[in-house]
Amino acid sequence: MRQINFKPEHLLRLFCRRFFVKTRTYSPTPANLRRLAGALQRSELVAIPTETVYGLAANALDEIACRKIFKAKGRPSHDPLIVHVLDLAHAEELAEFNDIARRLVRKFWPGPLTIVLSKKNSVPAIVTAGRDTVAIRSPAHAVTRRLLELAGIPLAAPSANLFGYVSPTSAGHVRDGLGGKIPSILDCGPCTIGVESTIVDLTDPISPKILRPGAVTAEELEKALGKKIVRGSAQRGKRAEKTGLIAPGTLPQHYSPRTPLVIKHSFANPPVGTGEIFLRKPAGRRGANVYWLSRRASLAEIARNLYRVLRQADQDGHARLWIEAVPENSGGLAAAINDRVRRAAAKRP
Ligand code: TXA
Ligand code: MG
Repeated sequence: MRQINFKPEHLLRLFCRRFFVKTRTYSPTPANLRRLAGALQRSELVAIPTETVYGLAANALDEIACRKIFKAKGRPSHDPLIVHVLDLAHAEELAEFNDIARRLVRKFWPGPLTIVLSKKNSVPAIVTAGRDTVAIRSPAHAVTRRLLELAGIPLAAPSANLFGYVSPTSAGHVRDGLGGKIPSILDCGPCTIGVESTIVDLTDPISPKILRPGAVTAEELEKALGKKIVRGSAQRGKRAEKTGLIAPGTLPQHYSPRTPLVIKHSFANPPVGTGEIFLRKPAGRRGANVYWLSRRASLAEIARNLYRVLRQADQDGHARLWIEAVPENSGGLAAAINDRVRRAAAKRP
């Protein structure tokens, strides 16, 4: 009989394999995309880029794969996932479409619009957290569309961050939160939009509701539908938590740095230890505590940089952070930026 020579380092390796996953970052070469599509088909997790933020993807039709998403993120099981598809035809396999859903999809897909509709039986309960509705979107990111094509499956993907923390807009952000917890990250550089998709609930075609503002604005949706649309807010989210009626994840406190964050209309007399986040590069101000979100206060640039700057300021170890408010009536992306900043600044329960 062969004798097994078991050394302490073998035990250590087994222990590490059980509790730590080796996380590899992949560039988007054709060979890597084929490899990652195969991994998704085998129920593995892959962090993927989208035009909004990075997502943590798994086969949406596979309960075991989706369970891994909740575990890696530390996400409560009552918070449902968005399913990513290539196009309307694939979405119709997952949800009961109505005319206004088709109209919005034709206008805004692929892109940063997520629609909520009654789900079909093909969608496992874990994806929708037991609800009878499902959230679906078709991302515009060319590499992720190729991955969807190669994998040939819908991908459930929440933002690829630890639950409640600031969403990731680069592969490095994903690694900071989920390194050692997931096997693969597909790195396609920084996200172009930088805040999560607009979510609109279309289950009642008579009164569509925005559950989360994003780059597709309320005004654009109203124009496409030819009628007023109910706008959601963090307050609405708070009520939703109690009633379980609206988007369960639109929590009043979310997307938050660990350092306390305060929204300011003026930066007069900041106490020592304050990290100051300006909307626009401030003239004549420099220092390790000064940050800015854009060179010219363009809303697109502010949205694109928001999470990167919040993460950086959080890591720099200030006692508190101040962030300048975007004027409410700025239109366009202002609603999405203000929504995220308000929730990042909300007090922890
Ligand atoms: O831009 C995005 O939407 C990104 C990228 C990766 O696609 N995804 C994203 O996912 O932001 P996540 O999980 O971080 O946020 C999804 C939100 C959550 O607040 C969740 O509660 C809500 O969508 N949601 C999901 N399914 C829902 C449903 N059936 N009804 C209402 N809200 C839903
Ligand atoms: Mg998220």
